[in-house]
Amino acid sequence: MELEKSMQHVCVVGLNWGDEGKGKIVDVLATDVDAVVRYQGGANAGHTVYIGDVRHVLHHLPMGVLHQGILAVLGNGMVLEPLKLLEEVNSIPEEAVQRIRISDRAHVVLPYHCAVEKLHEERAERPIGTTLRGIGPAYQAKYGRIGIRMGDIMEPGFIEDVLPKRLAEHSEMLGVAGEGIDEAVRICTQLRDRLSQQVTDTRRLLQRLDSEGKKLLFEGAQGCMLDIDFGTYPFVTSSSPSFLGVGPGTGFSPRKIEHVVGVTKAYCTRVGEGPFPSEIHGEEADALRKAGGEFGTTTGRPRRVGWLDIPALCFAAELNDLDSFALTKADVLDGWETIPVVTGYRLDGELLDKFPDSLTDVQGLEPVIEQWPGWGKVDAQSMQPFIERLHQATGIPVSILSTGKRRDEVCIFEPFKAEGELA
Ligand code: IMO
Ligand code: MG
Repeated sequence: MELEKSMQHVCVVGLNWGDEGKGKIVDVLATDVDAVVRYQGGANAGHTVYIGDVRHVLHHLPMGVLHQGILAVLGNGMVLEPLKLLEEVNSIPEEAVQRIRISDRAHVVLPYHCAVEKLHEERAERPIGTTLRGIGPAYQAKYGRIGIRMGDIMEPGFIEDVLPKRLAEHSEMLGVAGEGIDEAVRICTQLRDRLSQQVTDTRRLLQRLDSEGKKLLFEGAQGCMLDIDFGTYPFVTSSSPSFLGVGPGTGFSPRKIEHVVGVTKAYCTRVGEGPFPSEIHGEEADALRKAGGEFGTTTGRPRRVGWLDIPALCFAAELNDLDSFALTKADVLDGWETIPVVTGYRLDGELLDKFPDSLTDVQGLEPVIEQWPGWGKVDAQSMQPFIERLHQATGIPVSILSTGKRRDEVCIFEPFKAEGELA
């Protein structure tokens, strides 16, 4: 693989159902950029990174905010939950808060969104198992053209004069009349008072940074199998976590992004309901869940676990126009002689080597499992046979290998800048 050494813009996306360890990869790559940009989702994301042995969890803020001197941009495609955002902002140094930029077009998640979501999930015959952070209803409001945007609440008098009337209308339409209006006024006021300096036209900002030759790192939350259009609908999130979401979520042309890195674990997990063809159960699953610490960052729920799924990865590679893989959590499988990997499926007795397009088909799949070469202790050398096999099976090389939780536990095979500086 030939990677250009001085790439200006890179995008990191999750290739599975979220929780791939994107935060760590973004954190590693962010040492070399001028801004990190989130383009979709909100507090449903939970990015964890270990700096030294200290664990940092962020929900809205891109990981790069923990690096000195770079901008942390929250794009227009995001939906922001005021109290959660304020909590995060107050957990980082003031110097870092000054480097946050929030799109005036990003939407605000309001208490009635969470109330509506809770009702829907409780009453649904087929609940999605959402994070209950109001994400779906906030995007519904956006696309229903009744959403409240960050720019609105920064307008003098908007919160006091306009917001209560708007919310009374919206919540009545949705059958949760009057839910949380006073609360909404209170939290939006807090948000305005704390972050008004950070709200700006981020599309214009990114354009300017690009023209000045600055480097941008785009950070997807969730994973592309949860994509609203191309994921396992309806068991998906309400935005486009895939690379395709960058354009609408930031206003920045995806044509300018030279490299898309897809993050995948060496096995697979999923939180919430929906099809998961490579899922395993019972004691085997419990052991893997425990070894990998697979409990939700946002909700604390135990994650469903399964094997690496090659047809699903090939689909993800195509969808994201992928350039390389970042392979994470291989250390969880240290010492396994062979690694179970799903390389195809059986559907009604027929052998499939592609991830099916129809949800009905995905639900009926029986996985075909191959044993791939294992490794003793994860490092670039001992992982080579597995990594080569992955390259062969998907056509995509591994550029980054995470060898543990901490920021410094990483191998970069194909550096994104002058050789050796990142590793
Ligand atoms: P990170 O960024 C894992 C899942 C939920 C549910 C579905 C819809 O940590 O990878 P939503 O609240 O978004 O409407 O829920 O999507 N989900 C995630 N699963 N990691 C995440 O984010 C997720 N964000 C949403 O469990 O199945
Ligand atoms: Mg998560």
